[in-house]
Amino acid sequence: MPFPATRLRRLRRTPALRGLVRETRLDPADFVYPMFVEAGLSGRQPIGSMPGVDRLSIDAAVAEAGEVAALGIPAVLLFGIPAEKDAEGTGAYDDEGIVQLATRAIKREHPDLLVIGDVCLCEYTDHGHCGLLRPDGSVDNDSSVELHVRTSVSLARAGADIIAPSDMMDGRVGAIRAGLDDEGFSDLPIMAYSAKFASAFYGPFRDAADSAPAFGDRRAYQMDPANGDEAVREAVLDVEEGADVVMVKPALPYLDVIWRVKERTGLPVAAYNVSGEYAMVKAAAAAGHLDERTTVLETLTSIRRAGADIVITYHAKDAARWIQQ
Ligand code: PBG
Repeated sequence: MPFPATRLRRLRRTPALRGLVRETRLDPADFVYPMFVEAGLSGRQPIGSMPGVDRLSIDAAVAEAGEVAALGIPAVLLFGIPAEKDAEGTGAYDDEGIVQLATRAIKREHPDLLVIGDVCLCEYTDHGHCGLLRPDGSVDNDSSVELHVRTSVSLARAGADIIAPSDMMDGRVGAIRAGLDDEGFSDLPIMAYSAKFASAFYGPFRDAADSAPAFGDRRAYQMDPANGDEAVREAVLDVEEGADVVMVKPALPYLDVIWRVKERTGLPVAAYNVSGEYAMVKAAAAAGHLDERTTVLETLTSIRRAGADIVITYHAKDAARWIQQ
């Protein structure tokens, strides 16, 4: 029955009525907080483009992990900045590498907090690409996958709870699954960065992790922002290769992709609200153009409404505090 019998405003009249019919709620239990751990650092080093996020020493990361756990956030995602970089990204699969050491230290102090290990060579290679280079400067898929398998096994040995490959090489999920199983880690889940787009929104991360490519860009392995069907294909292939969770990244410019991947796979879907999305909100809020709290909560709610079960976000700690208030 149309207006005047139907009046949608009836259910919007008071906070209690709005709460009663609210379809999507934010819960810190669905958040993942990313952290940057730097070898050789003492204390913390602010990241200019990401106010509120610092590069951390291992001790500082352990303390921050405790803060995260106390806020009811179940997981951290670790990125490492090694002391030295080389062409083969050896720091990524060194059993005494920065993320391996940080993982052990965090799990020792906070055994119930989940540590997710990001698997990619770009923070560890001197050229900043996500794998091994051929003489012509292109990234060689299959030899890079072998190193991602080594990295995954090394992170598993260090105590990581979830392995998250973010390199976008073909076939890496299947290879990592087989590699983990061979080493006795058949219980360890894989969260695949399945639809990872070649995005301008990674800019601040590359400052933070010191991982900008020295030449060229990542378009020969990360996805074209124009492609939704292909994103679904990527996710379906990762499911066939054994992914336990599939991810869409970035989040806000790709809400349609989150929805399609969720509909098609039925798997737990993670969305990564990336560094540039964070930096935009922080910069606009600092300039007085946006209210930070309502903007962040609206953004995170939209990502959940689009179908994400898990939201990886630098706003996680603030949002958890706001939700609990
Ligand atoms: C590594 C990686 C990147 C991000 C997560 N893992 C950067 C990239 O591909 O350059 C970006 C995260 C962010 O922007 O917050 N490949």
